[in-house]
Amino acid sequence: MIDDADLGRMPLYTSLDRIEGGLANLGIGPGDPIRPEQLFSLDQWHYHGTDAVAAAARALGLGPSSRVLDVGAGVGGPARYLAHTFGCHVTALELQPALHEIGVDLTRRSGLSDCVTHVCADALSHPLPSGSFDAVVSLLAVLHIPDRPRLFSRLARVLRAGGRCYLEDLCQRAPLAPRDLDDLRTVVCGVTVTSSADYAADLAASGFTNVVSTDLTDDWAPYAAERLARWRQNHAAYARVHGEEAYAAQARFYAVIARLYDSGSLGGVRLTARA
Ligand SMILES: C[S@@+](CC[C@H](N)C(=O)[O-])C[C@H]1O[C@@H](n2cnc3c(N)ncnc32)[C@H](O)[C@@H]1O
Repeated sequence: MIDDADLGRMPLYTSLDRIEGGLANLGIGPGDPIRPEQLFSLDQWHYHGTDAVAAAARALGLGPSSRVLDVGAGVGGPARYLAHTFGCHVTALELQPALHEIGVDLTRRSGLSDCVTHVCADALSHPLPSGSFDAVVSLLAVLHIPDRPRLFSRLARVLRAGGRCYLEDLCQRAPLAPRDLDDLRTVVCGVTVTSSADYAADLAASGFTNVVSTDLTDDWAPYAAERLARWRQNHAAYARVHGEEAYAAQARFYAVIARLYDSGSLGGVRLTARA
């Protein structure tokens, strides 16, 4: 069973002062106001940054009246982008207190607290009123959540009838070698990385209809390889601002992900469905 302490040791979720470090690099001090767009290179922890969130918003038809639940919100990047760009009201649900607190602070400093509500809780147990959302978005988070059928049943319940769900996540395309499986568990904290067909079947079994699965591997695999190459090229500059430890943690994560795609075992998937 994975908990927030295990997740907190995952390389992606260490050296969290890199966000303040990145802001300081822009001349923005702790507590200073922030324009939302100044955060976009720092607070989007998925593939293709705000472009992916904009695509989700367009697919879901989101606008100022939309009530959106973001599951596994991280430091709140997608939630703030949806609120800032589309005017939605977003509940940003995040398990790890350290990430949640950073999210609250960044949202306040971005002037978006009226539109983004941060909740620090486990998506598997936090009570949310039935039918209270028009849409659920979750980007690169479900892989961490151990009981996917339970999660999807809860998401189906919190959506209004006809509400839509938009997920992007990792999936498994072929059996993993023992070393790859170990890295997927320990470095990526991927506890529910299955075939995209099993993923879609879990949505259908939870009462979702119109389940559509799109294979993103051909897009994400080269993205991950380029991300690793860029990261290594930028080693000295990044380490100067954030330190060697922060550089190395991200480098390890990016290298494992690139190797897993390269092995043919890992893939990316988008799933959309209707409640
Ligand atoms: C890779 S991050 C993505 C963050 C955000 N969706 C983004 O794209 O910027 C995945 C997040 O899911 C969160 N998470 C994992 N399990 C969770 C759970 N059971 N309930 C809520 N959040 C969870 C993690 O703590 C982490 O912040």
